[in-house]
Amino acid sequence: MERPHLIEFSKVGTSSLGYLSIAQNSTLPFRVERVYWTYFTPDSVIRGHHAHYELEQLIFAVSGNIEFVLENVNGEKLTFLLDRPNLGLYVPKMYWRTIKLSHSAVLLCLASQEYEESDYIRDYNTFKKIVLN
Ligand code: TYD
Repeated sequence: MERPHLIEFSKVGTSSLGYLSIAQNSTLPFRVERVYWTYFTPDSVIRGHHAHYELEQLIFAVSGNIEFVLENVNGEKLTFLLDRPNLGLYVPKMYWRTIKLSHSAVLLCLASQEYEESDYIRDYNTFKKIVLN
């Protein structure tokens, strides 16, 4: 099973000119089929509360800070803080996630599949009962 991990993307530029970072399929853990972004999330809201059967994601805080708590079916919990725009979080399939965004945060997600509701596990007890072989 793949494990969640942070990926540091290189920064091109200088502090006087600003920076850019690059993601392209040849250097990513999966082929990107979809991109989405979330924004204007109020401080008090916790998003996520789901896992995916197959979807893999690479997530960036292109602005602001984002805290991710990821839990697998064995109950192992991992916390990640995205606090720099050149830091990506690889989220494998089958991780329950809760996501806290600072108000100004913009979450950018590169995803391995197009949107399919049947790939979501939205009930925590259903998720915890899944046995992986
Ligand atoms: P969801 O993935 O549950 O958001 P979050 O985990 O950030 O709280 O998606 C919220 C809603 O948006 C849900 O009704 C499904 C819809 N949606 C799409 O239609 N296409 C997409 O690519 C995504 C990510 C969500």
